[in-house]
Amino acid sequence: MGASGKKTILITGCRRGIGRDAALTLARRGHRVIATTHTSAAAEGLARTAASEELPLEAFKLDVTDAGDRRRALGRGVDVLVNNAALGESGSLAEIDLKRVRRAFDVNLFSPLELTQLVLAEMLQRDCGRVIFISSLAGRITMPFMAPYTMTKFAMENGAETLRRELLRLGSAVNIVLVEPGAYRTGFNQEMLEKKYQWMDYCSYFYPIIGKIRSGEKRYFRIMEKRSTDSIVRQVVRAVEAQHPRMRYAAPWWQALGVRIMRMTGK
Ligand SMILES: NC(=O)c1ccc[n+]([C@@H]2O[C@H](COP(=O)([O-])OP(=O)(O)OC[C@H]3O[C@@H](n4cnc5c(N)ncnc54)[C@H](OP(=O)(O)O)[C@@H]3O)[C@@H](O)[C@H]2O)c1
Repeated sequence: MGASGKKTILITGCRRGIGRDAALTLARRGHRVIATTHTSAAAEGLARTAASEELPLEAFKLDVTDAGDRRRALGRGVDVLVNNAALGESGSLAEIDLKRVRRAFDVNLFSPLELTQLVLAEMLQRDCGRVIFISSLAGRITMPFMAPYTMTKFAMENGAETLRRELLRLGSAVNIVLVEPGAYRTGFNQEMLEKKYQWMDYCSYFYPIIGKIRSGEKRYFRIMEKRSTDSIVRQVVRAVEAQHPRMRYAAPWWQALGVRIMRMTGK
């Protein structure tokens, strides 16, 4: 970390949405941001935007599932790793091809853990640093037809909290933090919800009620989704900059409160 409190922050999955908005916001706050993307084309687009504002942001391709790409995070003095990249997957566990669920776990959990282990080794050597996992409020509750995705975030919640406690036992200054977004209109949810209709045809157990499921989830997300990512980006900034970070940062506040009440009442 620079003497000015400015940090070197590597973020995955910055093509759009929360990752991109957090990367640009953190760079505008003077941090050195390494914004990585799934593809090289996306990195070039982001680099151009950053250059037009003269921001301290470099961008390159880092497919989190690619071991060679992951090694590109090494030797850069990363103070904060933000595991943001994810893919959505949906459908009932009664019938989904489990290859899809494995793929979701690979992108959303195992690959970020591989990247974390690499970067953590450097952080532990310096005895400073922070790993932020972008989880989800949906990783604290259950939602029908979303388990192929939400299970990955449930596992992330448990893993991150456990890792934090383990590092505390080492007396390490390296911290682990969870950021939990509620519903934001980035395109992620629509793509996730639509995926199941690629294969939920007349063979599906749920075929007779597909129309009802589809209109119900459309209505739900139309009401719940925030158009601007500002509130969750503010939480990412807090998670990066807090001297003594909390375990969890969530937004929007009313969805976080709703989830807390649902958990307390066992709903
Ligand atoms: N939006 C919400 O309502 C919401 C709610 C709760 C949690 N979240 C979480 O917030 C984070 C950001 O989501 P978002 O809403 O901003 O959606 P998003 O724009 O789709 O962000 C996900 C990013 O991950 C990237 N990605 C996917 N596979 C990758 C891979 N193998 N390697 C590297 N990058 C990869 C995507 O790039 P490509 O598109 O180029 O593949 C995309 O830029 C995710 O962890 C998501 O689970 C979102």
